[in-house]
Amino acid sequence: MKIIITENYDQLSKKASEFIIELLKSKPKCVLGLATGTTPIGLYQNLIDAYNKGEVSFKDVTSANLDEYVGLQKDHDQSYAYFMRKNLFNHVDIKSENLNIPNGSAKDLQLECERYSNFLKDNIQDIQVLGIGSNGHIGFNEPGTPFDSTTHVVDLTESTIKDNSRLFSCIDEVPKKAITMGIGEIMKSKMVIILASGANKAQAVYNTVKGEVNTTCPASVLQNHPNCILIADKDAAKLI
Ligand code: GLP
Repeated sequence: MKIIITENYDQLSKKASEFIIELLKSKPKCVLGLATGTTPIGLYQNLIDAYNKGEVSFKDVTSANLDEYVGLQKDHDQSYAYFMRKNLFNHVDIKSENLNIPNGSAKDLQLECERYSNFLKDNIQDIQVLGIGSNGHIGFNEPGTPFDSTTHVVDLTESTIKDNSRLFSCIDEVPKKAITMGIGEIMKSKMVIILASGANKAQAVYNTVKGEVNTTCPASVLQNHPNCILIADKDAAKLI
């Protein structure tokens, strides 16, 4: 794993966007694996700026998002479908038919998992962007998830529900389940960029980089990825 430590969040976002901008220029018809959470928002803003300057286009891009809450309609302001429209898709020329996010309000969630896995088999991510949970989760692959998992429904852990409750009006509103791309499907990406910002991620970053590779810290699997870059700001990297 290659590690880049930046002075602050802005530099982290800039560094991450450089990799994506380079991909968009060299391979306009690419598959971009995208993440939600607060960490990639600066990266998305930089991509919007690059689009507005005419440096890049998304017209031939296929997106593949990591995850979605179960039970939130795509217009709910905490759904990841809404997040992606608000923070990126509404501001660039990506085509709506090329947007892919697991559907957390599908009637048959098992079928939805199979559909999404099949989509990923045919659309390997050129770059997969990841954030990291404070417990080391990637996507919504919580500790204990097998490394060869495909898209599946998860029961969110108490710590993830607590972490994510800051974005809801109260903790009871946080969905208890989600659909997530599996770790096996993340690992098939040609390149992975994992972003970590802030001191509350420092232990997870340590476990990811220096810990044993095991399912207790899902992100530790990335030590086995042939082309993974961790970009962390100083605070998130303070233990490594
Ligand atoms: C959620 C998402 C993850 C994300 C994590 C961290 O749980 N499912 O993909 O990495 O939050 O979010 P943040 O970047 O807001 O700390």
